[in-house]
Amino acid sequence: MNRLLKISALESAYGAVQVLFGVDMVVDKSEIVSIIGPNGAGKSTVIKSVIGLVDVRAGTISFEGNNITGIATHRAAAIGIGYVPQGRIVFSQLSVTENLELGAFLQKDSQLRDHAVEAVFDQFPRLKERHKQAAGNLSGGEQQMLAIGRALMMQPKLVILDEPSLGLSPKFVDLIYDKLLELKSQGLTLLMVEQNAARALELSDRGYALELGCNRYTGTGQELLVNEEVRKMYLGGS
Ligand SMILES: Nc1ncnc2c1ncn2[C@@H]1O[C@H](COP(=O)(O)OP(=O)(O)O)[C@@H](O)[C@H]1O
Ligand SMILES: [Mg+2]
Repeated sequence: MNRLLKISALESAYGAVQVLFGVDMVVDKSEIVSIIGPNGAGKSTVIKSVIGLVDVRAGTISFEGNNITGIATHRAAAIGIGYVPQGRIVFSQLSVTENLELGAFLQKDSQLRDHAVEAVFDQFPRLKERHKQAAGNLSGGEQQMLAIGRALMMQPKLVILDEPSLGLSPKFVDLIYDKLLELKSQGLTLLMVEQNAARALELSDRGYALELGCNRYTGTGQELLVNEEVRKMYLGGS
């Protein structure tokens, strides 16, 4: 079975305010899947629902064929779902290494934790060079690498990223996207939300355009990229 994540008829709410109205999505192994759509469409809410940060009111979410609807957030990390929140959130007073270690707080074996840190340093040599520095002193792009590295600490099967390129300089956007493709080639599966929709679709196996908490368009990244209406509505025309 190639299916890693399946979201069916998902309805989610913040208290009394319902935001998703029956969203469907699938993510297969080793795919990059992008969720695009205007501000407020519910993109972040979909991924927050997967990791238990939002109340799911109806519908189901399954991961590797197991129903994980309403999972506790720390359990999501334990079963192999890594999460990179929007805004490259790092603990700015803590060192690079300490930030990474926090990504494996569930791992009690310190030797395994050290191995995981080394593996992240292999992926991101830049973080290794700066491992003693306070995370707050890193550039925006380096902080995003650190946030991604932290999500890799538990050897996830799926990494979910919320707006990984937001606010980064073009050079770092290139770097982060290259890294995402590299992670995919290593067998990792990625689900991301992106404002930078054209860029995201270019490297996506599958894309979902959301509107007002519902599915609007679904297709391969290429299909969405060349779709006239998608271009007009989500990719700034032309
Ligand atoms: N914590 C929250 N409490 C109440 N409403 C929220 C909260 N977070 C998001 N919303 C609302 O949910 C809707 C979808 O938000 P979100 O999923 O963040 O959209 P997107 O990521 O597509 O920009 C928006 O109308 C937003 O105002
Ligand atoms: Mg969002």
